[in-house]
Amino acid sequence: MSRSATPSTSGAATPQARRLEDRVAVVTGSSSGHGRAIALALAAAGAAVMCCDLRKSPLPGGFEAEIEVDTDDLIRRNHGRADFETADVTVAQDMHTVAQRAVKAFGRLDVWVNNAGIFVVNASVVDETEEAWDRTMGINVKGTWLGCKAAVAAMREQEVRGRARGRIVNIGSIAGEIGQADLGAYSASKGAVHNLTRALAIECAPLRINVNAVAPGYFATAMNRGFFDDPEALAGIHDLHPWPELGTPDDIGAAVAFLASDDAGWITGAILPVDGGVTAK
Ligand SMILES: NC(=O)c1ccc[n+]([C@@H]2O[C@H](COP(=O)([O-])OP(=O)(O)OC[C@H]3O[C@@H](n4cnc5c(N)ncnc54)[C@H](O)[C@@H]3O)[C@@H](O)[C@H]2O)c1
Repeated sequence: MSRSATPSTSGAATPQARRLEDRVAVVTGSSSGHGRAIALALAAAGAAVMCCDLRKSPLPGGFEAEIEVDTDDLIRRNHGRADFETADVTVAQDMHTVAQRAVKAFGRLDVWVNNAGIFVVNASVVDETEEAWDRTMGINVKGTWLGCKAAVAAMREQEVRGRARGRIVNIGSIAGEIGQADLGAYSASKGAVHNLTRALAIECAPLRINVNAVAPGYFATAMNRGFFDDPEALAGIHDLHPWPELGTPDDIGAAVAFLASDDAGWITGAILPVDGGVTAK
């Protein structure tokens, strides 16, 4: 069993089926961790990717391969199409600007991935601060909602391509499905992301816009550096996941690329666990 963090690939290692050829995708929080792996996977499948994040470079403390190269630069170096826009998911105008820039640069908007999210700290309900609660809800829930608003506003105006006008994929968490101690704000935020996904799937089905979510287990990213550097915490993470080794952000990228494609044409309102079996228990 591997007990070390496995870095994600550079996006060039394994050519994936080009099932997103000519599609245009936005990924929020694309500079680091899952967002970077998602952007690379979508680009490897043929999509043009409008990257957006608070910062252009990966967060320090991440496990990314080629961490010194920004995500959009890496995509272009791998002969893909990408651009970057600085944006805060909690600002409605930023989300609309990103949608407009994607359409202007690449012609339309097929896929929107609401990935940006934060985890502040493990704390009991008594110790967790209101500031931590508000920040968590602001970025994880309101940020996802604002991303959905911008995506649907742009997608509903365009022609159907394949089976859909557009596809939205939200990044939730196993914490949105199961209870864990000292994780109140984060769990509540991800539960909200999952049910927002279901509500919008129903609302947007007549528009032919799929809305799904991916719910990751624990992965080695900057967000979790503290846990992965602590042998006791790391052993606990391994014990939680039934699969013999841990997944990598590339597993999240692959799941999102599937949900973003026509292969997932009639899937909407689904919460897809990518968790090595945690939520099967
Ligand atoms: N790492 C895990 O184990 C894990 C597990 C379950 C779910 N998730 C979810 O996956 C998503 C990505 O997490 P990660 O582990 O890659 O985190 P990360 O901290 O490594 O990267 C998050 C990225 O989002 C950006 N970001 C943060 N706030 C933003 C904002 N307001 N606007 C725009 N960008 C912003 C950051 O700059 C960073 O580049 C999050 O939604 C997280 O909750 C992660």
